[in-house]
Amino acid sequence: MHYAAITERLAHTGGAKWAIHLRCRKMKAAGADIIELTIGEPDQPPAPELFEVCHQSMLSGRTGYSSGRGEAELLEAIAARYAKRRDGVDTDNVLCFPGTQTALFATMMGLTGPGDGVLVGDPFYATYEGIIVASGAHRQSVPLRAENGFRLTAEDLEASITPSSRVLLLNSPHNPTGAVLAAEDIAKIGAVCKKHDLWIVADEVYEELVFDGEFASPFDNPDLADRVIALSSISKSHAAPGFRSGWAVGPHEFCEKLLPFSEAMLFGNQPFIADMTAYALNSDLPTSARMRESYKRRAALFADTLEKLDGITPFRPQAGMFIVLDVSGTGLDGEDFAWRLLEAGVAVMPGSSFGDNAGNLVRLSLTVPDESVVEACSRITRFVESI
Ligand SMILES: Cc1ncc(COP(=O)(O)O)c(C=O)c1O
Repeated sequence: MHYAAITERLAHTGGAKWAIHLRCRKMKAAGADIIELTIGEPDQPPAPELFEVCHQSMLSGRTGYSSGRGEAELLEAIAARYAKRRDGVDTDNVLCFPGTQTALFATMMGLTGPGDGVLVGDPFYATYEGIIVASGAHRQSVPLRAENGFRLTAEDLEASITPSSRVLLLNSPHNPTGAVLAAEDIAKIGAVCKKHDLWIVADEVYEELVFDGEFASPFDNPDLADRVIALSSISKSHAAPGFRSGWAVGPHEFCEKLLPFSEAMLFGNQPFIADMTAYALNSDLPTSARMRESYKRRAALFADTLEKLDGITPFRPQAGMFIVLDVSGTGLDGEDFAWRLLEAGVAVMPGSSFGDNAGNLVRLSLTVPDESVVEACSRITRFVESI
């Protein structure tokens, strides 16, 4: 049977990346004792108030269709939040989506097409490959260098630009490395994007999970206002990924032009989820501070223990839910290391799931209790010593 080009393009972007995670789930289901450090699922529940608001909203009849752009109260809450970062933001700058993932997909479909280049720091979040190639665009990798703390530099960006480049897909705080771009980095990157007339799609889903230092964003620079689209959600900030509630904040013209695409795709998200999200954004809940504290503590636990091992170099994250290790000193690449470690009772993601520049890395999730981190460190130590 015939399938569309988009289906064929996406056919090879998924499965293999998650092979170890899926294998781990099967082994656990069969009774194996495995510490799962593969995906980044927050290990604390959302604040109880969020369930209550959602429930009351459903009971009060907020179960109909929503506006294609988003519910009025949520648009206000998002606009108010971003207006604190840059003057002049209003509800016409906002589109609601079910999660950052959908916002990323819709945005890239709206901005790129066959032949267009999308610049992205490599390593990158596993789903970016699909987001980029879906429209027929191609990935233009910008190396993120360990010696530079995996922070994207303006120089490396400029060297990767070609006449086909249209968009920089920028992710800070960064998954998988936990790197956070400083305001000075962003200023230089912004200047390069302006010079080459590039869009900047800023995935800021880990904004609230910066351990040390300041979050900085190209969105906050008025000089870049016509080319930056900031995307985020309550998935990480409020430990609520299953609610699927996110947004895009960009220029008026962008929102106007993308609205028909968004409406064709999903026609708004659930009003009761929108009410809960507006409440979450308008409240000062303790969830993200708690997560910041635990993830920072667990990253230090991993790094302090594993840096003592011959052949392992941990990179301390500045933010987020993960820590990466360079395992090449063990004589194994990330993929072999991860498969063999699975047999030793710890499931991690191989760096190869995150681009072409991460083959020597593995990524460990920080979303398990401290006792499991300690036990994982013992198992990794025994495994590395046995190689
Ligand atoms: C960098 C990055 N962007 C986007 C997402 C997806 O976020 P959401 O749950 O808001 O769709 C994730 C989830 O892990 C992520 O790590």
